Amino acid sequence: MKPWKRTHNCGDVNADLVGQTITINGWINRRRDLGGLIFVDVRDRWGLVQVVFNPETLAADVFSDAERLRSEFVISVTGTVAQRPDGQVNRDMASGAVEVHVAALHILSDAKTPPFHLDRPSDVDESLRLKYRYLDLRRQELQKSLAVRHQAVQFVRQFLDEQGFLDIETPMLTKSTPEGARDYVVPSRVHKGKFLALPQSPQMFKQLLMIGGFERYYQIVRCFRDEDLRADRQPEFTQIDLEMSFVDSEDVMDLMEQMMLGLFEEILGITLNRPIPRLQYEEAMNRFGSDRPDTRFDLELRDVTAELKNSGFKVFAGTAAQGGVIKGINAKGCGSQFTRREIDELVERATAWGAKGLVWMVLGEQVKSPIAKFLTETEIGAIVQGLAGETGDLLLLVADQQETAWDVLGRLRLFLGQKLNLIPQDRYNFLWVVDWPLLQWDEEAGRFAAAHHPFTAPMDADTDLLETKPAAVRAKAYDLVLNGVELGGGSIRINQAALQERMFRALGFSPEQAREQFGFFIDAFDYGTPPHGGIAFGLDRIVMMLTGRASIRDVIAFPKTASAMDLMVSAPSEIAKAQWDELGLQPNADATKRVNP
Ligand code: AMO
Ligand code: AMP
Repeated sequence: MKPWKRTHNCGDVNADLVGQTITINGWINRRRDLGGLIFVDVRDRWGLVQVVFNPETLAADVFSDAERLRSEFVISVTGTVAQRPDGQVNRDMASGAVEVHVAALHILSDAKTPPFHLDRPSDVDESLRLKYRYLDLRRQELQKSLAVRHQAVQFVRQFLDEQGFLDIETPMLTKSTPEGARDYVVPSRVHKGKFLALPQSPQMFKQLLMIGGFERYYQIVRCFRDEDLRADRQPEFTQIDLEMSFVDSEDVMDLMEQMMLGLFEEILGITLNRPIPRLQYEEAMNRFGSDRPDTRFDLELRDVTAELKNSGFKVFAGTAAQGGVIKGINAKGCGSQFTRREIDELVERATAWGAKGLVWMVLGEQVKSPIAKFLTETEIGAIVQGLAGETGDLLLLVADQQETAWDVLGRLRLFLGQKLNLIPQDRYNFLWVVDWPLLQWDEEAGRFAAAHHPFTAPMDADTDLLETKPAAVRAKAYDLVLNGVELGGGSIRINQAALQERMFRALGFSPEQAREQFGFFIDAFDYGTPPHGGIAFGLDRIVMMLTGRASIRDVIAFPKTASAMDLMVSAPSEIAKAQWDELGLQPNADATKRVNP
């Protein structure tokens, strides 16, 4: 038997064990020499324990081994659990009332000095931490995040299992799925010049599983999207993906509320109210300027287009004449608080976000505004009233097309909410956003794009508008939002080939293009397709919310950087000339220079 067989985890060592001989294994978190004694904190996955080496009671060779110990050595110690002397109890440590008086030591591995201090991560450049990710993973925060991630997955699996869902795997090497991002593609060696795509989601496969008669499917599944990264986006991420047959939106939302609130209650020990409130897309945009509103604070948008459409200020009148809107928010009390510089900064931000400008108005004894001279008393009164302004307030207005006004004011609202500390950190505001538009105009492409994806069903009452008034068609779609973060989204799907073909046409696909890309899928509808629908949640985002982490990288064991690189393994990387040849590919001149000969 190995002489260092562990009897206890560090997390289980406490005053109940006083007098017992135990063996613990772990890493050296810290060592201190004090008056001949050597104190070492041993760390394992479950906790920390202080062990003491005493030169008076230990054999000389054991003590000289102890003198060699440094941070991050891997050791095993056997010794007696003892009460700590009075005054040395550490209340911040679960095992802080006791220490282990060492009798035997095994050094299982030496360690070089780590390239950064494990207990001071904020002092360290993140790229260094990502390069040595295995060291960063030893930190308690990451250990905790990944444990919560595991618990969340366990909970979801058990919940869905109890509800009759089957976990079924779908292909990783497949054909492009239209979720709206760029694909990661994989060249085929066998079929030179052809490519496979990594799935952006299992969307078509899960629908085919419904046609295949499985009724309730789920998968905790990796998805791949080559898109611009943000704090809550990774190129590969994990979905809790599911699909159900013979359901409508209510059935899906009802079951998912039980699952998500159950998960948050289980892990955070909080109680949340059902049902989750619902907000129509249009109302979410009008009030919060966002399709994933953070409803933990007010600062809502107001509309004053009607009051100002005939204004002498050309920007207002001109915008209204072109079908645009004039909207604003009231930064309560900020008129008397903000310096001119702070206000100018808001204007700069708004223009950087795409506004043509930002009208500001400080309400004091007189109204101060760069455009005061262009407005009549009545117009100023209308703005003040429309935005419920009072003395001391700062009113901020954008005149633009509706989408731009929504977006800029929505961002300004979030910025001010944070700057003014208006966002309570202890609230979990779940929200369903419903009644989405089915299609959104894509200015660049000059055609409509699916707001969710092309398989989402239109509302029955709106189906007739698909050809005549596409922008007015609402979808049977729902998104789950928590504190301003989109946790998941789904819909009831189209289940008739004819309607699916109309949808492809509305999206600008010719019948040939639709057939070429989705023929197998449209054909499947002809063989008995049950009404079906589903949803997918971003597991990484859920774990971010459960652990309060601001970065998605803090909840993934081996994440990629914001520029989609893995700094530890150095990926992406070049491939050898032989691999290019085998794949029948030609590197471009630029790439050739970098490839190993
Ligand atoms: P959607 O594209 O909305 O829907 O994705 C579902 C959820 O996945 C998460 N997510 C991401 N998380 C991290 N990094 C990313 N790059 C990323 N992209 C998406 C989000 C999002 O809400 N097939 C449909 C679902 C359906 O209709 O059933 C789909 O994929 O939390
Ligand atoms: P200008 O007429 O461009 O000098 O702008 C006068 C003021 O109106 C400035 O304070 C601009 O920031 C603001 N402004 C200009 N265009 C807009 C707009 N579309 N929406 C809101 N404010 C604007």
